[in-house]
Amino acid sequence: MIAEQTGADLFEIVPVDDHYPMTYNALTDVAMKEQREKARPAYKGEVPDLSQYDTIFIGAPVWWGDWPMIMYTFFEKNMAALSGKKLVPFSTHEGSGLSGFDRKLSKAISDSNVLKGLAIRGNDCQNKKESVRKSVNSWISGLDIK
Ligand SMILES: Cc1cc2nc3c(=O)[nH]c(=O)nc-3n(C[C@H](O)[C@H](O)[C@H](O)COP(=O)(O)O)c2cc1C
Repeated sequence: MIAEQTGADLFEIVPVDDHYPMTYNALTDVAMKEQREKARPAYKGEVPDLSQYDTIFIGAPVWWGDWPMIMYTFFEKNMAALSGKKLVPFSTHEGSGLSGFDRKLSKAISDSNVLKGLAIRGNDCQNKKESVRKSVNSWISGLDIK
């Protein structure tokens, strides 16, 4: 929806080794272990040349009150390229909201301008698409990204 509204290019962060179970409880265990161990799972492919962008939207599901560890792989691998950019965090969640994604992103990429984030319930993304689209569009209109 963000890409539709802004015309942005998309890059999806997908694990190289898909060791994530599809059942919720098993996945929560794997994710907790990764968080405890500060794991940095590898993702597939190379991010496009980020120097061509002024603003980068970065989103993920909240996992245990934080970005999934694979997102820290992305932040650390692209630290130089993300520095000095406008970064816009967004989350899907089931109650924790943005879960400090903005603060944690500022900390991970210290020389960045982190703009107002958006948190949407994962369930609403599946079942209330039109109301989510309104929230997304109104959030984007209020961002200083012209
Ligand atoms: C490992 C794991 C940990 C989660 N931890 C949280 C959490 O701390 N707070 C929260 O609101 N939702 C949590 N959730 C719910 C997810 O944020 C929600 O399922 C997700 O945003 C929906 O997107 P998806 O369909 O891409 O998974 C967790 C889900 C998983 C699988």
